[in-house]
Amino acid sequence: MTAPLTTLRGLDLLAEIQRLKSDRNAIILAHYYQKPEIQDLADFVGDSLDLSRKAAETDAQVIAFCGVRFMAETAKILSPEKTVILPDMDAGCSLEDSCPPDQFKAFREAHPDHIALTYINCSAAVKALSDIIVTSSSAQQILDQIPLDQKIIFGPDRHLGGYLARKTGREMLLWPGVCIVHQAFSETELLKLKAEHPGAPVAAHPECPPHIIEHADHVGSTRSILEYALATPADTLLVATEPHIIHQMEKAAPGKTFIGVPGGDGNCNCNMCPYMALNTLEKLYVALRDLEPRIDLSTQVMDAARLPLERMLQMAGNSVGKGDVGKPRIDNVVEPEDIDPNISGD
Ligand code: 13P
Ligand code: SF4
Repeated sequence: MTAPLTTLRGLDLLAEIQRLKSDRNAIILAHYYQKPEIQDLADFVGDSLDLSRKAAETDAQVIAFCGVRFMAETAKILSPEKTVILPDMDAGCSLEDSCPPDQFKAFREAHPDHIALTYINCSAAVKALSDIIVTSSSAQQILDQIPLDQKIIFGPDRHLGGYLARKTGREMLLWPGVCIVHQAFSETELLKLKAEHPGAPVAAHPECPPHIIEHADHVGSTRSILEYALATPADTLLVATEPHIIHQMEKAAPGKTFIGVPGGDGNCNCNMCPYMALNTLEKLYVALRDLEPRIDLSTQVMDAARLPLERMLQMAGNSVGKGDVGKPRIDNVVEPEDIDPNISGD
């Protein structure tokens, strides 16, 4: 899917990327989970909501999106007249994979009295089937605006949905998808780290399962975890999200120590997102040079997906960067096992 890289030998990639960026009238947007060298040359680094807003607002003709496909698709849907390129079109997401549109449609049809509140980590086709899109930084604020008697399907992340349900007391039907990165964090390794660094707070992303969240002092989006890292008086922080965000923490607070919580037995790289890692400087250069790979979606899907995304932008108000501090209150979540067994997201 990605153009060949055979012509890159001897190029000053950073200079070439800057040259092409100006020639193309392009903006480079990057997520916090990108490699440090990509974060450092991006015009803007942010969480999913910040990046959506930037994509909707920019005057640039080309958006070079250093993130994963659903983020680049969101940029295209919000700015359909722009060319949106993604360095590697294989940069997907396990949450997107867990939620095929035909199964999501069937699930919605089986629950006609529910609205679909859908995490932005899904395909454009699933967005087109949804009522309101949320990000981790805006989900609770948006949920709070939905009448209490309105039944809700939340997908595709069972852990974000479960966290919201426990925190707000809202019962929601959860789609059984997970992020393979946050799912892999090891409670045993986290407890070992807590013992080694007594008093160090834990910041966790709500895509983590409950056995990680229950040890967290702060739960929120990547942007809010970064803000917490800078605001906490502690000099050491245990970080339960994809560890490339630590690059921004170390730049902004060089005197503090940030430790990524490991996955598995502590020796694997499974706390790193394999999809985000597909983007490289070389592929970004080629994408800017060739304006490929580019996001191409049907007008029909884009028009249908834009409405729930625009609802998100309106309902999220000024929630950029406002994270959730505190622990879940109650536990009355409808677990994915209770969902119609004919519908499987796995
Ligand atoms: P946020 O940056 O919105 O917190 O999302 C995290 C994530 O997993 C993106 O794929
Ligand atoms: Fe998807 Fe998880 Fe990677 Fe984010 S970190 S892109 S949710 S697989």
